[in-house]
Amino acid sequence: MAETFRADMLQGKVAFVAGASSGINQRIAERLATAGAKVAMISRSEEKIGLAAEKIREQGGDALGMAADVRDYDSVAATLKKARDHYGEIDIVLSGAAGNFVAPALGMSANGFRTVVDIDLNGTFNVLRAAFEHLKKPGASLISITAPQAVKPQIYQAHVCAAKAGVNMLTRCLAMEWGPAGVRVNAVSPGPIGDTEGMARLAPTPEIEANYKAQLALREFGTKDDIADTCLFLCSDAGRYITGTIIDCDGGTALGDASSDALSRPE
Ligand code: HXC
Ligand code: NAP
Repeated sequence: MAETFRADMLQGKVAFVAGASSGINQRIAERLATAGAKVAMISRSEEKIGLAAEKIREQGGDALGMAADVRDYDSVAATLKKARDHYGEIDIVLSGAAGNFVAPALGMSANGFRTVVDIDLNGTFNVLRAAFEHLKKPGASLISITAPQAVKPQIYQAHVCAAKAGVNMLTRCLAMEWGPAGVRVNAVSPGPIGDTEGMARLAPTPEIEANYKAQLALREFGTKDDIADTCLFLCSDAGRYITGTIIDCDGGTALGDASSDALSRPE
């Protein structure tokens, strides 16, 4: 057990992280690199992903930043091939690219709905499907970033709820199909994470933020490190027998409203 959790536990491994130019996924890429993995990373913006990769290299890691839109299968496939040519077979794939905006269903055009489903769900399929031929088999670990909205409906989030529910089911289907090849497929579901674009969009004022926290069992937002550590555990040898699972790292979000006034207290 002690051997599993050594500081360089991903030494010699190759990781591919989609949506890694900012926020939670960027922190995951950094954590994988600190643990010894060589990290290929993509996002739409060549400049942003280049800077994110450069930051890892400045900290002594090995990273390659490439531009690709996860909605474009051929472009994603080309970056996966480049990653494999550059670093060798891929051990870890993290699919976390996502888009969100707050809007009622009636304030959403068909293109608005489709855009989020295309990035979150179809993009995840594209990344995982295109990765398969480049994976180290047996032994590869695939992780998608989902959200509590996959199981907990939320107003003004119809697109995200539908897309992330699809990500959860895709995770379980691929785990069944690819398990026999020695490929594990899991997802991590972050709750509200502080200092992220996601929460800046969902909780834009201190009042809304306080409401969110009051409903959480743990009463506080999580951190990007909470999610990075969960992913590190999952893709390490410590997670070698885990597949088809959605791990909630969400402060209790998926449990429901835990505010003290959710029910009147018995006297
Ligand atoms: C209604 C909107 C809208 C809004 C965009 N659209 N914003 N509709 N209300 N606020 C509509 C547009 O009008 C357009 O439809 C369609 O969506 C596509 O918009 P584009 O701007 O052309 O799309 P694109 O450039 O591809 O950008 C995608 C995006 C954008 C999702 C709209 O916000 C983005 O790039 N987001 C990436 C960053 C991000 O969202 N991070 C947060 C991830 S957190 P029409 O019909 O006009 O053409 C997350 C949280 C999960 O996922 C849960 C957290 C707890
Ligand atoms: P973020 O900083 O906006 O990260 C999204 C990333 O995806 C960015 O690097 C963005 O980079 C990239 N991206 C967006 N569209 C893309 C596309 N079409 N192709 C390729 N890359 C694309 O958001 P975040 O808040 O950290 O969220 C990260 C993940 O956690 C998402 O999957 C989100 O759903 C999930 N999540 C977040 C929270 C939260 O509290 N923040 C809670 C639950 C789940 P470019 O702009 O450079 O393309």
